[in-house]
Amino acid sequence: MTYKELLKKKLTKKEMELIPTSFDIVGSKEKAVALIEIPKELEKKEKTIAKAIMQKHKNVKSVLKKSSPIKGVFRVREYKLIAGDKNTEVTHTESGCRFILDPRTSYFSPREGTERLRIAEKVLEGETIMVFFAGVGPFPLVIEKKSKPKLILAVEINPMAVDYFLDNTKLNKSKLIHIVLGDVRETVEDFYGKCDRVVMPLPETSIHFLEESLKCLKKHGTCHLYCFSEEVYLHDKKDEIDKIAKHMKKKIKFTEVQKVLPYGPRIWKYRIDFEVL
Ligand SMILES: C[S@@+](CC[C@H](N)C(=O)[O-])C[C@H]1O[C@@H](n2cnc3c(N)ncnc32)[C@H](O)[C@@H]1O
Repeated sequence: MTYKELLKKKLTKKEMELIPTSFDIVGSKEKAVALIEIPKELEKKEKTIAKAIMQKHKNVKSVLKKSSPIKGVFRVREYKLIAGDKNTEVTHTESGCRFILDPRTSYFSPREGTERLRIAEKVLEGETIMVFFAGVGPFPLVIEKKSKPKLILAVEINPMAVDYFLDNTKLNKSKLIHIVLGDVRETVEDFYGKCDRVVMPLPETSIHFLEESLKCLKKHGTCHLYCFSEEVYLHDKKDEIDKIAKHMKKKIKFTEVQKVLPYGPRIWKYRIDFEVL
């Protein structure tokens, strides 16, 4: 029985039509958190909805309602606990790695696991990788697990995410990751010219950090830049990248555009890959 079927006797037909069809579950078989969007019209029924989710998914120990968009430098949203345990720290498993995190303090999306694996599969043996905007460490840890880099550098500005990231390196017995706490703009100078590949998973504003990324790359290197765009405007994004590269006297070649996840009406999260020649 789905959680929706469990609710049929408790909600009106009209209310049933408003129930979200999907929601994220972050965590493990032992303890997980459900992250759900509840329409205003259903606010009075939110506890009933949360209980149905916990009845259906026995591992869900807390239900958090999204109460703001993703916001601020740390890219975290506000949540309201509508049922269950107020301790919302969980351990999530992905691609054979484990990540401890609390969605209330650090960005993490379980929907991006396939994309992290795609990047790990592109990494060549012996590469030095730079991951900007590393969060609790899922890109670096999956890259270390699934490929054979020499070194992974990772920069993150949110101290709470970095604390989890440090725990996660221990949990996954990582040996190749060097974590830097701080703003990419202020912390990567030591790594200029040292990286074979830079990953830029901050789709809202990655492009503003492109100069830093190009400076971190060796003479030849690869960049994976994430952005939000409508398909028809993708060429504008590429033009913008090209312009910044030209300004820095770098010759680049676009190698791949990957549609990652839907974001809004006609808007997608894309990954644009290019090589510095
Ligand atoms: C969209 S999240 C991605 C996190 C992680 N890569 C993941 O896949 O879960 C972007 C992250 O970039 C961090 N961030 C934002 N601006 C930053 C900056 N200027 N320097 C370093 N990190 C930054 C945020 O704190 C947030 O954790």
